[in-house]
Amino acid sequence: MSAPPTPKSRILGTGHYVPEKVVSNVDLEKIVDTSDAWITERTGIRRRHVASENEVTSDMAALAGRRALEAAGLNAADLDMIIVGTISGDSPMPACAAHVQQKIGAGDIPAFDVSAACAGFIYGLTIADQFIATGAARCVLVIGVELLSRILDWQDRTTCVLFGDGAGAAVLGPAGDDGRGILASRIFTDGSLAHALTIPGGGSAEPLTPEGIARKRNKVHMMGQEIFRVAIKNLTSASTAVLKAAGLTSGELDWVVAHQANMRIITQVSDRLSFPLEKFVINIQEYGNTSSASIPIALDEAVRDGRITEGQSVLMCALGAGISWGATLVRM
Ligand code: UT7
Repeated sequence: MSAPPTPKSRILGTGHYVPEKVVSNVDLEKIVDTSDAWITERTGIRRRHVASENEVTSDMAALAGRRALEAAGLNAADLDMIIVGTISGDSPMPACAAHVQQKIGAGDIPAFDVSAACAGFIYGLTIADQFIATGAARCVLVIGVELLSRILDWQDRTTCVLFGDGAGAAVLGPAGDDGRGILASRIFTDGSLAHALTIPGGGSAEPLTPEGIARKRNKVHMMGQEIFRVAIKNLTSASTAVLKAAGLTSGELDWVVAHQANMRIITQVSDRLSFPLEKFVINIQEYGNTSSASIPIALDEAVRDGRITEGQSVLMCALGAGISWGATLVRM
């Protein structure tokens, strides 16, 4: 067996923020033709947090980012780069990361968004790891943030019950020689399934018109079953790929933090990886699917409540629109 890879970057601190307002499944029964029983059984979701009217995406991202910096014992001035995974920024232009840079008080460091939907945080970690590995950056703030409640069709029961708002963040810095850090990271995209999860209107293909707005073309549209099937397959294959790259077996993992989209997807990935469900960090019941924020929120909760501890091996995996997916294996 070959020696495990030498990590180049490691997670120095994590943080998250979720809005105060909670919308329960029972609350949704009053808005659309759904039931608490259907949502709970089919998805595992019981509640989701929803941003207040005066909150914007970059507010949530900045709060999560500040908490991650605090946990790392660093200041915004220590950062060399900010990467924000989001598909629901404050506006189509400029990048949400530009607002975050200002709100946390960082200097004129590069700050950019990554559009990989639910896989945005994994994409961000992978990019940050590369910049640190080459020495081009020392300290990178990676944030996953979504304010999906504003881009959902609240009359479409097939989507509005699934998603929630929130932000999670991690600060990455150079790894030491203690084996802690990112052991392997892999990202993938299959554009042949681009149509399966989309906001069809508002871009060059379909500029928004009053008719388009009336037809909710500026809202999230999803072919749920197609995504469901491919999520199980691709989350498993990406996880297997990073395990192989790191020279580990699933039996040597301490935790899996999988994207919180559907409890049935997580259960099937657990089966296929032969890794016990009890060792998955699960918070879907509380937040629903927060897209790119789901992994860093779950990771931070598990770090703060002492489940995930220093030296443990944690596998993170996510899939979303694009379709884009990936996995990162880290020794904390
Ligand atoms: O994060 C990005 C990646 N996204 C995902 O990973 C999501 C993947 N997909 C899923 O999680 C599931 O496909 C859903 C949760 C979206 C849907 O669950 P499903 O078991 O695949 O349901 P379905 O689409 O097959 O629908 C079954 C029935 C349908 O009724 P009929 O045609 O059988 O009469 C739907 O109309 O359930 C109905 N339905 C609902 N009923 C009550 C769909 N949504 C609801 C609802 N409440 N909210």
